[in-house]
Amino acid sequence: MIIFGLEGTAWNLSAALVDEKNVLFEKMATYVPAKGGIHPREASQHHAEHMARVVGEVLQEAKDKGLKTDGIAFSQGPGLGPCLRTVATAARVLSRKMNVPLVGVNHCVAHIEVGKWRSGATDPAVIYVSGANSQVLALRRGRYRIFGETLDISIGNAIDKFARSVGLGHPGGPKVEALAKEAKDYISMPYTVKGMDLSFSGLSTAATEAAKRYPLPDVCYSLQETAFAMLVEVTERAMAHAEKKECLLVGGVGANKRLGDMLTSMCQERGAQFFLPERKYMGDNGSMIAYTGLIMLKSGVSTPIAESKVNPGYRPDEVDVTWAEG
Ligand code: ATP
Ligand code: FE2
Repeated sequence: MIIFGLEGTAWNLSAALVDEKNVLFEKMATYVPAKGGIHPREASQHHAEHMARVVGEVLQEAKDKGLKTDGIAFSQGPGLGPCLRTVATAARVLSRKMNVPLVGVNHCVAHIEVGKWRSGATDPAVIYVSGANSQVLALRRGRYRIFGETLDISIGNAIDKFARSVGLGHPGGPKVEALAKEAKDYISMPYTVKGMDLSFSGLSTAATEAAKRYPLPDVCYSLQETAFAMLVEVTERAMAHAEKKECLLVGGVGANKRLGDMLTSMCQERGAQFFLPERKYMGDNGSMIAYTGLIMLKSGVSTPIAESKVNPGYRPDEVDVTWAEG
């Protein structure tokens, strides 16, 4: 089976073609705001402008290689409304024109599935940390249940906000990680875990305040150590509760080496195994949508056009996982 996937929930417009084993092609166009954060309408205009080229390049490669597409998968949500609508419109047209089934994919579930596919994890507790999301999930009774999540902003957003406030630019994650390596001291920061949930907003503000008095590397280091310790604590408890022997890290913040190291130690102490996909499958990409569409279609799921409306608040635990057992 060969599936075409289209992702465009936020910054990245990306189209890909995958089969059961491999990513065959992938093309991207990334929206970079003139200044400040992402503007939903501008991002959707960016996606509309680049759609024909990005989609066209992938379809042309398929044609050149004589490959036949069996379905069209698209990111149905969560994400920015205008971006989602642009992507869904293109996906519907392709499905109609090519006369193949359409599959609406949950973006969070796609991060998980591509992570499993590319890392070899089979039934992990998942820590999904990105610019918009921070969740700890595990498959239980047919759904990815959310064991813990942020009550306010995501960890990626918390780091980016802090980074912007001290003039490091966007995205802040890699810059904060690099500076943290030069730190000498830990500065006390608010550690907020409520039950299984997390809060990063106060921590981000505290780091901005601390930067007025302490060396920037120390602040970056302390922000990371505190936020990641919170995430590891919740992940460990989810693993114990759901009785999972594997831990999988996905999402853009997963590129952070320190977070991976902390999760590795936690897993070692529990006799569990830590999994990390290659970096290019951590952030948003068309392959993750195509691959998830493929396993959904194979399990008998498709999305009639009438049910293909986008869902900006689509939660991963709304999806029936018909293709895997937990
Ligand atoms: P989603 O729609 O799933 O929320 P997203 O659109 O936010 O995803 P991602 O590429 O998954 O996009 O994540 C981007 C985030 O990852 C940004 O907040 C960025 O600062 C963060 N990030 C990238 N590299 C690092 C790093 N090395 N350390 C920490 N954070 C990082
Ligand atoms: Fe994402």
